[in-house]
Amino acid sequence: MAVPTLAYSRPDFAAGAHHRVANSLALLASIVRMQASAFGKRPDMVSCDEVRTVLEELGNRVHTIARLHGRLAAGPPDGAVALGDYLRDVAAAVVSALSAAGQVRLRFACEKDCLVAPERALPLGLIVAELVTNAVKYAHPAGVAGEISVACGVADDQTVTIEVSDDGIGLPEGFDPMKNGNLGLQLVRCLASELAARISFAHDPLGTSFELKMPTETVV
Ligand SMILES: Nc1ncnc2c1ncn2[C@@H]1O[C@H](COP(=O)(O)OP(=O)(O)OP(=O)(O)O)[C@@H](O)[C@H]1O
Ligand SMILES: [Mg+2]
Repeated sequence: MAVPTLAYSRPDFAAGAHHRVANSLALLASIVRMQASAFGKRPDMVSCDEVRTVLEELGNRVHTIARLHGRLAAGPPDGAVALGDYLRDVAAAVVSALSAAGQVRLRFACEKDCLVAPERALPLGLIVAELVTNAVKYAHPAGVAGEISVACGVADDQTVTIEVSDDGIGLPEGFDPMKNGNLGLQLVRCLASELAARISFAHDPLGTSFELKMPTETVV
């Protein structure tokens, strides 16, 4: 079964509160369809426990989108979003929800003047939430304390760059993050493609890093 595309509209005109609600709901619908598609590819019976876990994770994602939406709704409907403060909030909320105090140290290096259109901020926030979630869950399976870094900046040609990295064990051997993975990385790839952003991963036994570059026309 083909992977569904993410059906939220591009903000060519009249970006406002109504658009934002519609985009958030469309994004949620797309995520539910992606999960349904993943189940459709399974040849085996799925246990009640697995269904419960998947629904709980779906609930977490709905909660993340609601939080991102609330954060964006606090600003003007057509105002640019300062990525630095926004991504800091996104990453901090994930870490405080998923890890014990002191277990993860978050580092930020975000330029203050890194601005994006509000409609771009929702998918960018979700991408960072998925990657920080993965870093918290998988980077240090032995439970040692670790560090997660989030950085963003804007180049002279207005290309926005976002980086998320950790100092953990790296991705599993033979794993290709541009093709493999579950709903999380699938979502990262689909959202990046919708944003016309280029993404890349690098990893070794000292950590995993992710970079996204979003072209100039999607920046305010
Ligand atoms: N930062 C990381 N460090 C180590 N392994 C990672 C990291 N990020 C991802 N992985 C590996 O990649 C796999 C796929 O990640 P992905 O986010 O697609 O799915 P998932 O986290 O297992 O499930 P979900 O659909 O809930 O996100 C993970 O199960 C994990 O083995
Ligand atoms: Mg994941």
